[in-house]
Amino acid sequence: MSNKKILVLPGDGIGNEVMYEVLNIIDWLSKTRSISFDISERLVGGTAYDKEGDSISDKTMQEALESDAVLFGAVGGPQWENVEREKRPEAALLRLRKELDLFANLRPAVVFDALAESSPLKLKIVKGLDILIIRELTSGVYFGQPRGVSQIDDNEEKAVDTQSYTTSEVSRITRVAFDLARLRNNKVTSVEKSNVMETGMFWKNIVSNLHLNQFQDVELHHMLADNCAMQLVRNPKQFDVILTDNLFGDLLSDIAAMLTGSLGMLPSASLGPLTESGSRSAMYEPVHGSAPDIAGQGKANPLAMIMSFAMMLKYSFNMVEDSNLIEKAVQSVLSLGLRTHDISDGTNKVVSTHEMGKAVIDELKKITGN
Ligand code: IPM
Ligand code: MG
Repeated sequence: MSNKKILVLPGDGIGNEVMYEVLNIIDWLSKTRSISFDISERLVGGTAYDKEGDSISDKTMQEALESDAVLFGAVGGPQWENVEREKRPEAALLRLRKELDLFANLRPAVVFDALAESSPLKLKIVKGLDILIIRELTSGVYFGQPRGVSQIDDNEEKAVDTQSYTTSEVSRITRVAFDLARLRNNKVTSVEKSNVMETGMFWKNIVSNLHLNQFQDVELHHMLADNCAMQLVRNPKQFDVILTDNLFGDLLSDIAAMLTGSLGMLPSASLGPLTESGSRSAMYEPVHGSAPDIAGQGKANPLAMIMSFAMMLKYSFNMVEDSNLIEKAVQSVLSLGLRTHDISDGTNKVVSTHEMGKAVIDELKKITGN
């Protein structure tokens, strides 16, 4: 069997530092567990704009289309703030999502016991929390047409973004949510603004119909997006799977992230449709951004990136055992009290990005005896 092809796109800011730690883990896996990947590394984001004139070149995009999975760091930074929108660092991310048709974005928010104290919420509210946000990623207001700014008269301009969804776009993400709920606690909360928006009512009806026809065994709730934001802070453990659109998913997943103590802990997977051969396009990235303020200082938390790689092993390559192994190593490192600065409460041993990455490998060695 040929090696799986991974395209590595570290990007900007802390993207490079956290990706470096994953590459070390891949190296360890290939030496000790005879897993090898064909890895190619390319520029993306502002760094690509500076060196190649665009935030993602056609060549890199082509490689992404030909790879089995993409591992993405983070993009963006203040130095590219004034770059035209089509070439901004974020445009690369949106292009990858769209052209790879990565419609299903999985954002798990899990509170590790060892970290429950670093959540800004009370321990009893977050302890044991394990929710999964399923965000639609290739449509909605991020991509809807028309969009743009036009002149109304000499003194007035008008800016337009369009929220739009088709039946099939809503159905396919809904199926993912119901399918994944069946593997968890079997409960889906579908989130929209059906009290105000056409797309909200449309979304709600499609979810209800699919539930009625094919997924009656799954518990379904509908919730308005503003209420969901509030409930996530008031009583997050009422949720299992949250199903929502592109924009609400962007907002709600940041709230969910913070419940876990730090954005630096959240991995994500973005998946395309399953093809007849059983494969699907996929990209894995930490939810945190490029954090330009701490870039290059060894302060970044590499755990979200490492766990994104663990998600890749599980969802793209069905290497569930190795994926679990990495998650277990991450938990042990946290139990040992090691903390990067974002998850430290002041009493722990604060370690650098590289020390944290190395500690994960040390745990992997301990667990496997290699
Ligand atoms: C995310 C990010 C992106 C988004 C930005 C960087 C374009 O916030 O992945 O959540 O809005 O989708
Ligand atoms: Mg976001």
